Amino acid sequence: YKVDVSEGAGELGAYPFYMLKEIDEQPVVLRRLLSNYTDADGQVNMPEELLAAMQQADRLYFVAAGTSYHASLVAAPLFEQLAGVPVTVAFASEFGYHMPLLSKKPLFVFLTQSGETADIRQVLVKVKALGLPSLTITNVPTSTLAREADFALSLHAGPEIAVASTKAYTAQVATCALLAQALGIYLNNDAAKQFDVAHKLTMIATAQQQLVDEKDQIHEFAQKMFKTTRNAFYIGRGSDYYLSLEAALKLKEISYIQAEGFAAGELKHGTIALIEENTPVVAIVSDPVTAAHTRANATEVQARGAAVMRIATESLAQPGDELVVPDTDPLLTPLVTIVPCQLLAYYASLDRGYDVDRPRNLAKSVTVE
Ligand code: AGP
Repeated sequence: YKVDVSEGAGELGAYPFYMLKEIDEQPVVLRRLLSNYTDADGQVNMPEELLAAMQQADRLYFVAAGTSYHASLVAAPLFEQLAGVPVTVAFASEFGYHMPLLSKKPLFVFLTQSGETADIRQVLVKVKALGLPSLTITNVPTSTLAREADFALSLHAGPEIAVASTKAYTAQVATCALLAQALGIYLNNDAAKQFDVAHKLTMIATAQQQLVDEKDQIHEFAQKMFKTTRNAFYIGRGSDYYLSLEAALKLKEISYIQAEGFAAGELKHGTIALIEENTPVVAIVSDPVTAAHTRANATEVQARGAAVMRIATESLAQPGDELVVPDTDPLLTPLVTIVPCQLLAYYASLDRGYDVDRPRNLAKSVTVE
């Protein structure tokens, strides 16, 4: 999988690793997406034939892998709430072999940074054989999955060099937010008309900038939480759970800490047995519906000796929270909370002396099943 640096982003410049550069680029990526997908007065522009095809669907099937699967989990409620269309999210490596009973008019959406993931390609072959419609949302418009799907949208994130995906995740969630609002408006849904996605993403770019500018403080948290540990947990509910899965993947794939993203409410059903003195647990608190419950779960693990770090949005913050991040729409908070989690993983790996951009056993694009 060769990165096409002709787009000019191949320069590392003053950065020690591409991953840090790509984390810093996220506000720029959001603004570039807005300039590509919205017009002067903030109206989202999506291809009419794509919206017409999506209008026909009675269910969207997001099929992806790794970070892109985590982005798909965040995208699902956006389409359900803004466009009123049910969504199924599945691992490509499972879906291809055990396809569930499909709805009558499915449409398949493949979120994929590389556009070359073999697990997804084998699903697209089956989807086309069934004569079903497909959309690929990718960072590589010339990729196999972009070329072979019926529709393709670009992430406009610029080449992502580090194996650990960061700016592509942000671009995937943001592009899905833009598409979900455009589809909702196309379907004449009030929820979409009231969801000013362009303004929200603009505010999120500012919030991301504030967080990347706080990287020294986040480095200190990484040293406090992850300096010597062998395991760690990220916990949350709703989108905070989906974020926890991504935060844990970042940490484990570059620092080799056995990290788990866990549904906070599920801990008491067994996994809390793993909590012991100083087990690092990062609790993500940005969902107003479940904030109190997640805080209770954090208290439960703390009572069993865990070293807890709370990351909370401003309006939900309480005295003692280690990190407070700017508020944003509950459907989009992962675009804000992911930044400190990416930085926590980066510094955990850096402080262990690892090659942050090229972690062991991993490839940037998994082109084998
Ligand atoms: C993410 O940090 C990993 N590098 C990996 O999980 C990746 O997201 C996954 O292999 C999917 O790749 P894709 O987005 O190119 O399909």
